Amino acid sequence: MNVLVLGSGGREHAISWKIVQSPKINQLFIAPGNAGTASLGTNVALSVNDFDKIGHFILENDIDMLVVGPEDPLVRGIYDHFKKDGRFQHLAVIGPSSQAAMLEGSKDFAKSFMKKNNIPTAAYQSFSAAQIEEGIRFLEQQKPPYVLKADGLAAGKGVLICQSLEEAITELRAMLEGAKFGEASKKVVIEEFLEGVELSVFVLTDGKSYLILPEAKDYKRIGEGDTGLNTGGMGSISPVPFADKSFMKKVEDRIIKPTIKGLNEESISYQGFIFFGLINIQGEPFVIEYNARMGDPEAESVIPRIKTDLLDLFDGVAKGTLNKKSIAIDKRFTAAIFLVSGGYPEDYEKGKQISGLDKVNHSIVFHAGTTRGAQDKIYTNGGRVIAITSYGNTMKEALDLSYANAALVEFDKKYYRNDLGFDL
Ligand code: AMP
Ligand code: GLY
Repeated sequence: MNVLVLGSGGREHAISWKIVQSPKINQLFIAPGNAGTASLGTNVALSVNDFDKIGHFILENDIDMLVVGPEDPLVRGIYDHFKKDGRFQHLAVIGPSSQAAMLEGSKDFAKSFMKKNNIPTAAYQSFSAAQIEEGIRFLEQQKPPYVLKADGLAAGKGVLICQSLEEAITELRAMLEGAKFGEASKKVVIEEFLEGVELSVFVLTDGKSYLILPEAKDYKRIGEGDTGLNTGGMGSISPVPFADKSFMKKVEDRIIKPTIKGLNEESISYQGFIFFGLINIQGEPFVIEYNARMGDPEAESVIPRIKTDLLDLFDGVAKGTLNKKSIAIDKRFTAAIFLVSGGYPEDYEKGKQISGLDKVNHSIVFHAGTTRGAQDKIYTNGGRVIAITSYGNTMKEALDLSYANAALVEFDKKYYRNDLGFDL
């Protein structure tokens, strides 16, 4: 099979790392990719949202399967773009239709879908600019903290948690009237604040059947002890000790099954990953959000625990034969630690030379914001630079190994959190 993976993060490096282990792979291309994916296949300078150019590349290179990493092209309809064009009849697209990707692309859609299907989630109400006064009155009836969510995609920044009513009203106005998040905040979901420990659960589905992948815990805040600004993710750990058999059964019965059933009842076709962002409230799982893709940095700990041929599973997704497949999971723990550029998630510098990668031993290096320069030197090219993933028989063993190797990779102003797993 010739495969094109879209994206340039650690997630896409992890997916590519797994794909090249498949006996089914012929040629692998990654667009645009990073310095890490360049060592597994051929990077192609294409933007993930330039569907026409991607289409030309697919035809010219006899691509059989397109694996879509990030949400943006999914929400913009990349699946539909290729499915409606006869020239791409034989192209397998791993990633949902734009309608299905609304589970991530519209918080209002996701909330009403959950409500309709009795899927446990925070109580909520949605407001448009014309309903701002009702929104304020609704806020006045709630208790702090107040959770405000821009309806559309806002690069992970569209959720605000406000401690005071005054701040919540100011932010609601900024979102609805001031277009704080542009088009994305033309509608705002106000919801009940939930308190618990978060975790990420993933399934791969062909729309009818599904396979549950290993779950993971993601560390979103920049600072130790989960303090400071939100980031794209500072690392991840899998499995999550509190997600035991009984908890995961609740997740499957109350959340996964009703989600697949609900999609079918609305005739929404879904071929790809569903990411359930969950919160554990005293042993009961609630949905915080859906995403229409794999998580990042979760992929960097989850994918290494999948023992089954991922390309064969993708083939099952595309052909609707996932019910004939099964998944084998490595029992060991994995811990992925992100090395980031100093200053991230605010201003940071790029173009710093990375050294010490050759010293990393017994860990996997997944690249994210990296690029290859002259003489094969590798430079930083983003905020999140490299994830270091290790296996261990215990969580501590996996973390210790990742931390030992994280210390060996050097670049100017390198930063990472030293406390992953502190809450498990
Ligand atoms: P989201 O973009 O929906 O993942 O939200 C970003 C983060 O905001 C989540 O990972 C949670 O930490 C937090 N969050 C979102 N919704 C709620 C809620 N209803 N209660 C408490 N925290 C929330
Ligand atoms: N780790 C959270 C995400 O991928 O959205």
